[in-house]
Amino acid sequence: MKQVLVIHGPNLNLLGTRETHIYGKQTLDEINNELVKEGKNIGIEILTFFSNHEGEIVDFIQNKGEHAEGLIINPAAYTHTSIAIRDAILARELLTIEIHLSNIYKRDSFRQHSYFHDISEGVIMGLGPYGYHLALKAMDQLLNRPSS
Ligand code: DQA
Repeated sequence: MKQVLVIHGPNLNLLGTRETHIYGKQTLDEINNELVKEGKNIGIEILTFFSNHEGEIVDFIQNKGEHAEGLIINPAAYTHTSIAIRDAILARELLTIEIHLSNIYKRDSFRQHSYFHDISEGVIMGLGPYGYHLALKAMDQLLNRPSS
């Protein structure tokens, strides 16, 4: 079975209670459970991971990235700062979809640069938790391309 990593960066464990006008009311567990279930239906094993710590995210990508075929990542605040996570993704040559719950271009100017846009196959943002489902559908398509 194809394996896809789903990584959530700092503070996303607070989804459901954190700035709900921006991030919505769904919890991280709910999002993860739905993705795992949807993955099963389409023959993709989903491995989810959350951390508040940059190095732990790098470790996870190094350790699990070797056998995974794709990565769906919301790097959260590390979107705007982390060369280390970017480098780990490049090192593992993971087909990557970047996702954000909010549209980072409608927000503070410091959120408008991403270290991941140019290494991602696609970017989904501004659609709340629904974006994760779109990301999984897109990943399924990408992994089943004739060249994959
Ligand atoms: C976010 C946007 C980031 O700027 C922010 O730091 C987050 C969440 C999003 O999903 O909209 O924590 O990645």
